[in-house]
Amino acid sequence: MSVLILGATSRVANRVARRYAEAGHAVYLAEPDLAEAERVAADLAIRTGVQTRAGAFDATDFDAHPAFVDAVEEALGPLEVALVAFGLMGDQAASEQDFAEAHRVIDVNYTGAASICEAIARKMGERGEGSIIGISSVAGDRGRRSNYFYGSAKGAFRLYLQGLRGRMHKHNVHVMTVRLGFVDTRMTFGMKTGIPVASPEAVARALYRAQQRKIDSLYYPPFWACIMGIIKAIPESVFKRLSF
Ligand SMILES: NC(=O)c1ccc[n+]([C@@H]2O[C@H](COP(=O)([O-])OP(=O)(O)OC[C@H]3O[C@@H](n4cnc5c(N)ncnc54)[C@H](OP(=O)(O)O)[C@@H]3O)[C@@H](O)[C@H]2O)c1
Repeated sequence: MSVLILGATSRVANRVARRYAEAGHAVYLAEPDLAEAERVAADLAIRTGVQTRAGAFDATDFDAHPAFVDAVEEALGPLEVALVAFGLMGDQAASEQDFAEAHRVIDVNYTGAASICEAIARKMGERGEGSIIGISSVAGDRGRRSNYFYGSAKGAFRLYLQGLRGRMHKHNVHVMTVRLGFVDTRMTFGMKTGIPVASPEAVARALYRAQQRKIDSLYYPPFWACIMGIIKAIPESVFKRLSF
């Protein structure tokens, strides 16, 4: 069984890759910089002894996505699990000044994620098996002034995954949505969160377990379901005055 990890230099993705490798699965690691992907793949192979491969993958190179999935399957055989872990927080202030920055954030987090999921779903659907794990964010649950380009793209990706799950159900393809809260990675480096930050290892354990059980959707850490329940219940007339 082979596993594709998109966003290989993410610490979350890296720890998930290790879970699958430790369970004996061959792993293909992809990210924009081929040398980085190769470094991560070599490291994983040495640590776990499994077969790994690496490839360059740019979420915004939409036209290349179907051929990329073909190349992954040529290298490692039919894909059983694909983790869509790449993401780009971007710079909200810069996005407000120049839509090109906002466009990049939307393209990576939503258009690119949907595009590669389509290419993967087509292959898995033809075979009638497989799991697609998409990483969304609690930021996608409600638009906030501080990160609404990133948040809206992550929210759109969650809705996309919900629809894809419905479409793929009759083809026996599992589609799982993960809404992450704060995780200790590059993305949150230096952030003052005021809320406990999860470790990438804990996220990886939860994702792996949930995928094995074919869960549809989860928050991690789970307490974020309560936090977001409260945040979503705040009336808009009040919410728009809050400064976060
Ligand atoms: N950390 C958190 O608290 C948190 C919370 C909620 C959701 N998430 C989500 O969790 C996932 C992992 O996040 P992380 O914190 O581990 O982030 P990260 O360390 O910033 O890693 C992001 C990954 O995405 C890749 N990437 C960026 N632009 C890309 C593009 N155009 N094409 C392909 N790959 C691209 C990066 O590659 P390079 O190394 O080459 O840039 C990197 O591998 C993301 O989807 C993120 O939105 C994270």
